[in-house]
This record gives sequence, structure tokens and C-alpha cells, in this order.
Amino acid sequence: MTTPPNGRRVLQTEQITLMKKISVRLPKHIVPERYQIMLRPDMEKLVFYGEETIYLNITKPTRDIVLHSVDLDLSEVVLKSSKFKYQISKLSQDPKTETVTFTSSKKIPKGKAELSLKFKGVLSDSLKGFYKSKYFHDGQEKFLATTQFEATDARRAFPCFDEPAQKAIFDVTLQIPKHMTAISNTIETDIAEHKGGYKVVKFAPSPKMSTYLLAFIVGEFEYIETKSKHGVVVRVFTTPGKKEQAQFALEAAAKVLDYYDDYFDIPYPLPILDLIAVPDFGSGAMENWGAITYRETALLVDPQNSSAANKQWVAIVIAHEIAHQWFGNLVTMEWWTDLWLNEGFASYMEYLGVNELFPEWRMWDQYVSERFAVALKLDALVTSHPIEIEVHHPDEIHESFDQISYAKGSVVIRMLAEYLGADVFRDGLRHYLKKHAYGNTTTKDLWASFEKVSKKPVRKIMEKWTRQTGYPLLSVKESNGKFELSQSRFFSSEMSRKKNKTKSIWPIPVSALDADGSKKQMLLEKSKAIIVSKNTGWVKFNHNETSLVRVAYNAEALDKLMFAVAENKLQPSDRLGVIRDAFALSETGQFSTVKALEFAGYYVNETDLPVWEEISGGVFSATEFYKDKPWYGRLEIHLQELFRPLAHRLTWEKTKGEGHIQGLLRSLALAQLGTAGDAATITKAQELFKGHIEGKLIPPDVRGVVYSLVAQNGGQKEFNEFIKLYKSSEQHHEEQDRVGRAMGNFKDKKVLAQVLDFAMSKNVRLQDSPSIFIGVGRNFYGRDLAWKFLQKNWKKINANYNVGGHLLEWFVAPFSCFSTLEKAKEYEQFFKKNPAPSVSRTIKQVAERIKSNAAYVKREEKNIEKWVKG
Ligand code: BES
Ligand code: ZN
Repeated sequence: MTTPPNGRRVLQTEQITLMKKISVRLPKHIVPERYQIMLRPDMEKLVFYGEETIYLNITKPTRDIVLHSVDLDLSEVVLKSSKFKYQISKLSQDPKTETVTFTSSKKIPKGKAELSLKFKGVLSDSLKGFYKSKYFHDGQEKFLATTQFEATDARRAFPCFDEPAQKAIFDVTLQIPKHMTAISNTIETDIAEHKGGYKVVKFAPSPKMSTYLLAFIVGEFEYIETKSKHGVVVRVFTTPGKKEQAQFALEAAAKVLDYYDDYFDIPYPLPILDLIAVPDFGSGAMENWGAITYRETALLVDPQNSSAANKQWVAIVIAHEIAHQWFGNLVTMEWWTDLWLNEGFASYMEYLGVNELFPEWRMWDQYVSERFAVALKLDALVTSHPIEIEVHHPDEIHESFDQISYAKGSVVIRMLAEYLGADVFRDGLRHYLKKHAYGNTTTKDLWASFEKVSKKPVRKIMEKWTRQTGYPLLSVKESNGKFELSQSRFFSSEMSRKKNKTKSIWPIPVSALDADGSKKQMLLEKSKAIIVSKNTGWVKFNHNETSLVRVAYNAEALDKLMFAVAENKLQPSDRLGVIRDAFALSETGQFSTVKALEFAGYYVNETDLPVWEEISGGVFSATEFYKDKPWYGRLEIHLQELFRPLAHRLTWEKTKGEGHIQGLLRSLALAQLGTAGDAATITKAQELFKGHIEGKLIPPDVRGVVYSLVAQNGGQKEFNEFIKLYKSSEQHHEEQDRVGRAMGNFKDKKVLAQVLDFAMSKNVRLQDSPSIFIGVGRNFYGRDLAWKFLQKNWKKINANYNVGGHLLEWFVAPFSCFSTLEKAKEYEQFFKKNPAPSVSRTIKQVAERIKSNAAYVKREEKNIEKWVKG
């Protein structure tokens, strides 16, 4: 960690933080124990009315009661107990702290009290709080009302103590139009007729839980249901006409729920688990206890139209959110500083869960090229941050839902699981969850449980990983079977490395597998160590890519490994690791890019999906900047040679009985070969597209590739077809999304300008604009246009997309593909003039990436040119 330069500075920053802290945290002497909430959404006026009583325990006499409330009209506030009744005369709302303070004319004594009030709010379009979502049924426009409270938006639906540690029991009653369905966290206990075409639906009391996990959903839904083996009723809700697409989710949810019941050794505490597909949704899904809400693409699978990739995504999201029912809902972080306990964990468990359901999908190998790869990239920036991070303002809290919490969090957990062994790890989790059930924790509590169960110094080791930014590069110098190891923080560029002033050391679990199959394991706690191997064949360090490190081999060790790769001697995750680190080191100047590209050629007979994912990623990063060079055509020939054998082996057709992974690999291979300009692949894609429009549907696994290649090589005519496809696929969101994402791939600037306008038009849901925009922003031929568009429309974009989920982030993120210092400056200056506090860290990271690209291009361009011409 950073050592502060002198004592005085420390004091000052501490004071400032203290002030910030006081301003956002609620006083601790008023404790909510129970909420009775009644809500009546008016689905025509699109507003809602509420009444609530909060049962409080006041631990210190006070005049003021402070709680959270945003954009609500409050009235009829009464505070009473068995001994007193006060009409609250003074009410002051503070939009900055998002609180309301009720001041009583007399001192409120210690003890129990009840706070009652009425309120009114608007069903917003902001994808947070209590909001409305629009859909069409039988050609008619309809609305449903739903909630998204995490992290700090329950306060927009009802006044509350909106902090994760203020757990309470919730009694929810919803007054809804007669023809609609109401869903909340628990099972409904009573439905009664009500005046004015309404009915009153009462729900059983919730478990003791945090406000951010509460949910109310009201609309016309249909559903299918099943019972898990352990007896929990599982239901999947969709808007009318879509319940056929819910079958896959229903089965997966019931199975994974049973699996977690056993794994955690704690039964899911509610009699019912609902999964609800919501047409407008900011993120992918939300783990509300017992009432998980999903974007349609993250829950629905249509056997006719869904790709293997989407099915896998659905399984992942289901396994992720259901894991939260324990990790997050039953045991919750004390404050958002420890958000990673929720998200890092669920991001680990999602693979464990899906792996259990579909072992043939080989999720843990996929993990290495997915979540793991994301963590390695992001945490190599000097602008990254530690997993445990101090946060105060809602903007900061929101921004901490990033890949450090998710991806790095999960990698650190997987590393610990490997270090402790599967059974000890599971027992540690059981200990932790049982000890803190219905309570709140910090990271230290988790380490304490693992220590207790394993008797190993878990906290001492793990703290270095969660409190220090970054991760180590393990340098391996071999000479004749003697290996000198040393560690230093890895940076994605020399510039970032120079900027960094701290020296960090990590306790690294190091494993090494050698040619005769023997494995060595050690904990490297210092900066250097020596290992001696008996044989002089290859040695793969970080076997199975379990520790969060990259490895730099000296030439002698690497040469041997390259041959082992060519002869297919290593397992997939190890083959993947070697090429991944070669490309990463070539970016930083510690390895030659041309050598890395040549090394990729050693994989020409590779058959494995995650390895190919990594190769294509590496090759893309090394070559993406040169599309406008006169010699790019020659480079494309190299790329075609790399991907052609794979694509030809797989062909466009599914073979009988082929597995899930094969489908994923086919789409990758064809996309790579076609994007590298292979004429036959492009022609075939265009033929398939023509047939598709005429009614001969393209198989879903290759549909995305076809769309993308058609756009890359098409113009106005194809764009018009895409618009038609987009508009006609409202009933199948995955398809609509696929079309939208493909649109970013055109090369013609006139068409791309129309794509940008379309992305922001009424035809596209707020939630879907960013993915279309990203397509243009990441496109070599579109990024200047997208950047100009963003600057010109910034006010509108900032106002409209600063809502639930991370929509705004996706508008500023794609520009990390720029590669000149001028662009970096332009980008930084624009956001200096137009600050965007909710995405400020992303902006810093993008600027760092642009600068590092600029250095990379400057260093390597000539070498690559020479290589392709050679
Ligand atoms: N708790 C999050 C949802 C969330 C995200 C709330 C951002 C507030 C801000 C949920 O568990 C989640 O992580 N969803 C992921 C899906 C998952 C499979 C990675 C998402 O929405 O992307
Ligand atoms: Zn999550």
C-alpha cells in the first residue's frame, strides 16, 4: 500500500474523508426493525402512492430522525409510541445527501417508536427506483411497473434507511389493477377485492434483509412453474406471449438452487423463488431476494432463435443471481467498500454452478479466457484500484460495480480455493455463512472463517491481494534446470510502470508443472526465490492459470515451452496462458510483437475454444491499429492462414451430435476468418443472409457472424434490411440485440452516421442504445464519427443515460481503441470541461489505455510492417 509522505498530509486527508463519511452515512442511533409498506401504482397516470409505518428502535434520545428519500412527496408524518404521539412539524429534504430529516418539537425518548407517513412518486423511465417498462402485446402498447434498488435507489420508492447494514423485516402490500399480477420477495398470503377496479395483494413477511434487495413488480404476466427437488416452488414470469421461452431458465434455476442448498449446507429460506423477465432493464439481472429480475436476453431462450452463446449466458446469469441468495442476501457486506464479497463471489459461483449443471461446457477452462482475462487487463492499469475500496457518494458506490469487484474478485477467490483445496474451501464458506446469517460482514470476517477451518494464515496472504492495486509479473530465468524467480507489479505499458511510485510484493502461490508431469508448489513471499528441477525439459509456471500473475520466461525456458505447445503437450489452460502472456508482454515492450505473432502460428492445429479465444484476442490487440496502412492486406493474409484450417475443419454446418463448445468455436473461427477478408467466407455469409431474408433462417449459432460479415462488406441496402429485421424482432430480444450489435460493423461513414442516429432513436430501448453505439465506437472506420457524435450530443446523452445499470459507462468506454497522443489529450480535455462523476474512473482508464496504445504503435509499427513484407 502507499506509504504517506508525511504525517500532516495524512491527518488532512483523514479529516476530509471523515467529513465525507459523516455526510453520507445515516446516524446509527435510530434502527429500523420492521417496515409495513403499502404501494398503489397507477398504471394509467404512471405514478404511485404509498403508505408506510417503520418500527424503530431509538437507542439515544433525539429530536431528529434522518432517513433516505429522493423525489418523493411526503405527507402526514406521525411519530408515536405507547407513551407519546407527535405530529412532525418540520421536514427538511436534502437532495445532496438524498435524505429527509423529521424534526420533532419535543425530544424523542430512547425506546421503541413507530414512524408513519404517506408518499407519492412518479413511475420513472430511469431504470432505477420504482420505474415503468414498456412492451407491446397484440399490437398494443402496455406498461408494467418494476423496481431496481441496488445500490442506493430504494429511497426513490419509499423513505427508508437505505444502507446495507440496516437490515429489517418487510411486510409488503400492493394495491394493483384487477387484471394484473403482483410479485414481491415472498409468497402472497392474501388477495382481496378493492374499490375502483383494484385488488389488494398481501405478501408474507420477508426475512431480515437490506433495503436494496426489496422488489415490487406489477403487470400483466404469464408464468411457468416447477418444484425443486428440495421443495421450493420456482416460477419464471414473462410478458404475455413469451412463456415458451422460459423453459430453459426454469429448469436451470431449480437445479442450481438445489445444488447451492447442498453446497452451502443451508437451505434456501423462502418457499418460493421467482425469476422475472423485464423488457427494460439497466444491467443484466438483479438478485432481489426471492424475486430476481432479468433483462430478457439474460433469461429467455428460444429453441428456434437462441445461440449456444446466449444459452450459456442465461445459465451464467441464473447461477450468478441465485448464488447471491446466500452470498449477498443472507450474509451482506456491512458497507459498499466490501461490495466484492457479493460480486466477486457470485462471479466465482456462477462458474461452479453452471459447471455442475453442464459439465460438458467446461466452464472452468472458459473462465480462464473470460473473467480471468478481463481481470488481467483491467488491473494492469496504473488507474486501477484495490478490491477493497473506500466509497461514499452514490456515484462512487455505483462505479465500484466494476470488473475489479467482479472479475478480479472472482480470480482472487479461485486462487484461494485452489490454495486451500475444494473441501476446505467449501467448509470455510459454510462456516462464514452460518456464522453471519442475516447479518453483515467485512472482508476480514471471510478470512477469519477460512483461517478457522484451514488453520492457514489466510488473512495475511489474502489481504495483500484485496488491498493492493495490481498483480505481479513472475519473471522466470532458467539456466540448465535452475530457475530464478522474481516478482514485480505488472503494468500494461512502460509509461504506466514509470508513473507508479509504490513497490508491492504479493504472497504468490506458485505452481510449476514439468515435462514429466511432476508438479511443484510453493508460496513465494519475497521478491525472489530459486527452484531447481531435475530434468531439463519444459516447465509451465502457474499451472492451470490459478494464481493472479503473468509469467515472463527467459528465451531458454520459453523456447522449450513453445515446442511443447506445438506438440500439444500442455493442457488447454496452460497452452492459453503461454500465448496470453506473450502478447501481453509484447504490448509493454518486454517481448517482441512479431515473435508473439509467430508464436500464434504454433497453434494452427489447436482445437480448443478458450485457447482460440485468447489467440484471437491477442492477435487482434497486436494488429487492430493498422487497418489503414497500405500493407494491411498482407497482414490479412497472415491472419487468414492462422484461422483458415480451423474454420475449414469446422465448416458452416453443425455435425450430428456435436457439442455445445463446438458451436461456440465455429462462430469464433468463421468470424475471425471472414473479418480477415477471406473471400469465400464473406460470400457464403452474404448468401446465407439473402436466404434468411427470404425466409430460410440462418442457424442461430452462426447468425451473429453472418450479420457482422454482411455489415462489414455491405452498404445502404444491407443497412435498410437490418432496420427491418430490428423492428420486426420485438418478440425476441436476443435477435434484436444481435442485429443491433452487428450494425456497428459497416465501413461506409454515411451508413455509420445513420446507425448512430438509429441507436438513439425511439426504435431502440434506452437499455439497448449503448451496445449499438459501442459497435460504431470500436469500429476502426467508425470511431472518429462516434467520438464526434458523443461530444456533440454529450448533454443529452449524459442526461438520458445516467440511469440504472451502467449505460453511461458504455458511451465513454469504447474509445480506448484510439492510439494517438492527440486523441488521448482531446479525450481528457473534453471530460475536464464536461465532468461525468459517475464514470470518472472509466474515463481515466480509457485515457491511460489510449496513451499506452500510442506507445505500442510507435514502437511496433515498423517491425510489423517489416514482418508482413518479409
Ligand atoms: N447485483 C448485480 C446487479 C447490479 C449491477 C446492481 C450494477 C447495481 C448495479 C447483479 O448481481 C449482477 O451482478 N448482474 C450482472 C450479471 C452477472 C452474470 C455478471 C449484470 O447485470 O451484468
Ligand atoms: Zn451480482
